[in-house]
Parts: sequence; C-alpha cells; structure tokens
Amino acid sequence: MANVDDDFVCNDSDNESFAEVISARLSRRSVVGTGLVAAAVASAGGIGSLLNAVPAQAKSPHKSLLGFAGIPVSSADAVVVPEGYTARVLIAWGDPVSDGPEFQPDASNTAFEQEWQWGMHNDGLVYFPIHGSARGLLVQNNEYTDDELLFPDGTANWNEDKTKKSLAAHGVSIVEITKQRGGQWRVVRPSPYARRVTGYTPIQIGGPAAGDSRLMTSADPTGRLALGTLNNCAMGHTPWRTYLACEENFNGYFRKVGAPTPLEQRYGINAAGFGYLWHTTDLRFSSDQEPNEANRFGWVVEIDPYDPNSTPVKRTALGRIKHEGAWVQETRDGRVVVYTGDDQANEYIYRYVSRLPWRRARRLGISPLDDGTLYVAKFNADGTGVWLPLTPANPALVGWSLTDILINTRGAADAAGATKMDRPEWIDTFPDSLTAIATLTNNSGRSAATVDAANPRGPNPYGHIIQWRYLRDWTEPTFVWDIFALSGDPANAATGSTIVGDKYGSPDGIYVARSGRLWIQTDVSGSTINVNAYAGFGNNQMLCADPSTRETRRFLVGPNVCEVTGAFLTPDERTMFVGIQHPGEAPSGANDPADPKRYSSWPDGPSGGRPRSATIVITKDDGGPIGS
Ligand code: FEO
Ligand code: CA
Ligand code: CA
Ligand code: CA
Repeated sequence: MANVDDDFVCNDSDNESFAEVISARLSRRSVVGTGLVAAAVASAGGIGSLLNAVPAQAKSPHKSLLGFAGIPVSSADAVVVPEGYTARVLIAWGDPVSDGPEFQPDASNTAFEQEWQWGMHNDGLVYFPIHGSARGLLVQNNEYTDDELLFPDGTANWNEDKTKKSLAAHGVSIVEITKQRGGQWRVVRPSPYARRVTGYTPIQIGGPAAGDSRLMTSADPTGRLALGTLNNCAMGHTPWRTYLACEENFNGYFRKVGAPTPLEQRYGINAAGFGYLWHTTDLRFSSDQEPNEANRFGWVVEIDPYDPNSTPVKRTALGRIKHEGAWVQETRDGRVVVYTGDDQANEYIYRYVSRLPWRRARRLGISPLDDGTLYVAKFNADGTGVWLPLTPANPALVGWSLTDILINTRGAADAAGATKMDRPEWIDTFPDSLTAIATLTNNSGRSAATVDAANPRGPNPYGHIIQWRYLRDWTEPTFVWDIFALSGDPANAATGSTIVGDKYGSPDGIYVARSGRLWIQTDVSGSTINVNAYAGFGNNQMLCADPSTRETRRFLVGPNVCEVTGAFLTPDERTMFVGIQHPGEAPSGANDPADPKRYSSWPDGPSGGRPRSATIVITKDDGGPIGS
C-alpha cells in the first residue's frame, strides 16, 4: 500500500514537459561545457541573472559548510551516521503521545488506543519551540498505513473496527518534547499539547471553495465540515506559528466501480484504488455512493499546534492537487508566498501569493491563506520562467470560475500551459538569495522524445534538483532557473549525474538550514533499492550539501527498505529530527502479517514484533551544530 501510483500519469494534456525544456538547456550547456553559466542565453536578463542564480564562491576563500566525514553506502538494518554523531529513536508508531496506552508489539491495539498513539508511517515534521531549542512541540504527518502490519492478522477478516484503526493511524501526531540534562530528548508524558488528528477528526473547509456544491455530501450538506485528513506527506509552517499538513495521494483510498468522471480520472480515482478496504465498511470511500467525498481531499490543512482544542482548516485557496508539501516564504512587504508541488509524473509546481501582508490580514480576521492568487510554473528553455495565474481573468481559463479552478486545479494548470515536471517533491527557500530549490524525484515513464530543458532525461530513474531565483522580490511574475544537480552516480558517466560528491538518486526531502546547509533525503522505492539502476546505492539516505560549491556528502543511511523523510532542526541547529518511514516495506507495498520482520526489524530489533516507522534525534557528541 505504498504510494503506488506516483509514476502513473493522469496528465494527458499536451503541455510541454519540463523534460522538453531541459534538454534544450542541456544540449546548449554541453556545447559550451562550463556548467551553469554556459547555459545562459543572450536574451535580456539571461546571462546576468543566471550568473547570480547560483551564489558565487565568496571572494575570500570559502570555508566549507561540511565539517563531518562522509559515510559510505550501507545495507545494514540500522541508522548509520558519521563518527562524532549520535542518532537515537525518539518515538515510533504506536508509542503513546501522552501518558498511554502502551504499544502492543503484536499490533493488537484497538482503534480507540491508536487514537492516542503515534500514527503509522511518519513523514514531514516541524519543531515548534516552547522554550527555544530545549523544549517544544514535534508535529509530524502520518502519511499512510501498511494494513498488513497494522493488525495481528493483517487485512484478513476486515471489519468496521479495522477501517477505524487504519483511519486513526493516519493524519498528524503532536507530542511535547524536552531536552534532558546530558542532551538526550524525551517525550513529555502527560502533556496538554499531545494530540492526534486522524482520518476522522472534524476539519473545517475554509477559503473560496468552502460551501461549493461539489464539496457537499450526505453527511455534510453544508460543504464546510470534512472528516479527517489523509495521506499527509510533507508539510509547511507559517510565520504565525501554525503547521501545514498536505494531502498527497488521497485518491488511493477511494473506489469508483462505475465509469470515472473526467475530474475523477484527472486525479486517479478508479475501481482498484491502492488496495485499502475502507470502502467496504465506510461508504464515504465509495465514490459510487458518495461522489463528492473525494473532492474534500487534496488540500493543504492548517493546524494550530499550540491550541489542542483548535479545529484544523482545509485552505482551499491553495488549490486541490496531490500536495507534496507547502513551503511558506515571507516577502519584503510582509505578504506570504507558498510553494507547493504536485507529486505525480508530469504534474506541476505551484506558487500562491497572499493579497495582504499576513499581519494585516490576521488583524482583519482574514487568513492569509484564504485570500490570494494561485500560479503554476512554466520553465522556458532559455533559463527563464514565468508564473501563470490560475484565475478567471487568465484568457486561457475563460469560462472557469475561481471554485472550478480550485477544485480542478490540475485541469486549470493544463489549460494555462504549465510545464510537466518529473514528480515535484519538496521545495525550500534560501531567503537571502531569493532562491527556491525543489526536488524532482524521478520519472521512469518520461520518454526521450518528451524531455525538455528542465526535465532533461527520459527516462529519468534518478531524478534531479532544480532551483529558481528572483531579482528583487519573491512575488515577481518571472524568474531564472537552473539545475542544481542531476542525480545518479558521478563516478559512472552512464548515469549522467552532475553531483559534486557522493552518489544518490530519487531526491525527495529537501531542507535549507539557517546556517545555509542544504539537506537532501532520498526515497528510492522498495522494489528498486540496491538493484537495477540502483545497484550499489544501498539503503535510502540523507546527504548534506554546501550550496556555494554544490559539494554533497552522505551524512546518514537508514535501515532496510525505509524512506528517509522529514528533517527539521532546532533554532540552534544542535538537534536534528529525522523521519524514518516504512522500514521493512515489502516490494509489493504490503507485508505478510505471518512474517512481519522479513525485510526489517528496525527499530526494536529481534525482540520486537514488527518494524515501525519512527522519528530519530541526531546530536553531535561535542554539542555542536549538525553538519559542522
Ligand atoms: Fe509522499 Fe511525494 O512523497
Ligand atoms: Ca515525499
Ligand atoms: Ca517520494
Ligand atoms: Ca514514499
């Protein structure tokens, strides 16, 4: 039950793909042969802007941001970090978020107990300080479940209670954590902040699409109150200290036995789903029975972690896509820009710009995320790009209302002429250089005929990292872009890698630390780890790069068949939280409940009952910043 349809293409529009754009840029580059600048074009603004697109090496000798000894690839069923660092498990699936109930290693906890336990398969995370870097809230998504591991007998004898427990293991988990004397972190139990948001927590629908008839169901004729959030992959956080949980592959929970509508087709809702059985006991997951329920997923959900009684809100102005995450950057005049990627092959990168400065909006009682303009990216072959507005005023969207655009954002982006990308995953920003950076994890389905400058390889098994930059402000309608790295093995020319340093593929998580260090996490799928194109790459990993030199060094390798996803530092950068998701996932995505430890027994080892997704804490033994 992994996110099996990421490579599947729902987009059959004839928009130029990002690969078509990059191939043009790369061929130009290979002719001139001196990296980024060579790709620049003579057109106005081109070369000068591109020269600035990459932070130049400082004139004084550059002191590398990478202070650790890189580690080799690993296929050990363990977390490996460099000498001088320590990684410890903080919390794992099933552990209580407050003062109980305890995890049962045979997975016999009930749905009610799961509601008070850390959810399964944790992903994006944020640390919200209470006392600086010593005490705070850890908020983390629980993206999906492997229902074969969630119960002692797996998916056999499926019933209503099983649906409920599976829903309870999804959503978001919030724990209070504190650093103890000696530097070790622990979960505070009990804590008034401890909370679970699940697949059935009441969630308000906010923004322009709230109350639209397409969001009304038999249980909610107002179209304003949804139940639950699902498939929360990566995340974001706002300057007003809220958390953004982003709904990604929501389609896989629904079943549509009858012919899918064009809207359902565009979002991948069909008879097979991802194999979940919820629809057999909860009719809201049958799109034949409740055709609008699926329209209430695919949104960005805002949660106030400091108020455990607050009702989360789905922010519809940010559009409805398979949101990887939502990364917020404040502009010079106090507005916010939110970057989101739609993680599926040949989907798009989006930008939202709030109408008002966020402080003023909040004083007026308006959410800065309810009132703004959504754009989608077009990457031109000459190294420039443009944000295409997704508004009824766009001539390409004649006949579309704003709610049409927000509910069928993919369709609107097709019509606007956006660039088809190689599966946009995480995005982050370098605030000082007005640069955003995004991972494009891979696209095995891209053909050589459809490559472009920004997606230059077809097929693209290793993925790449792209960045774009503005001249004066984050709200500018145009930008210049370049490829930070084509992933693969730099020692093997056949992979076409431009990495300066250690090999990796399928970049997914990306995180810019205040110190300027760039952290990169990988998500090679379980069926591909260490075989075929990935033979010799070992388990999934996390690397650290110095953006000035692009030097990239391996910092962490995860246990068997996990994905390394979720990274966040305390403000002092002396503690790093990292998510280890789905250790021991079976190649099919679904384990055998009779042999749950077949592929991994991390983190509990031989004495444990089954592998568990968990979040680890990394500290440096001398107390210094992580990566220094
Ligand atoms: Fe949930 Fe795009 O990874
Ligand atoms: Ca991801
Ligand atoms: Ca991924
Ligand atoms: Ca994944």
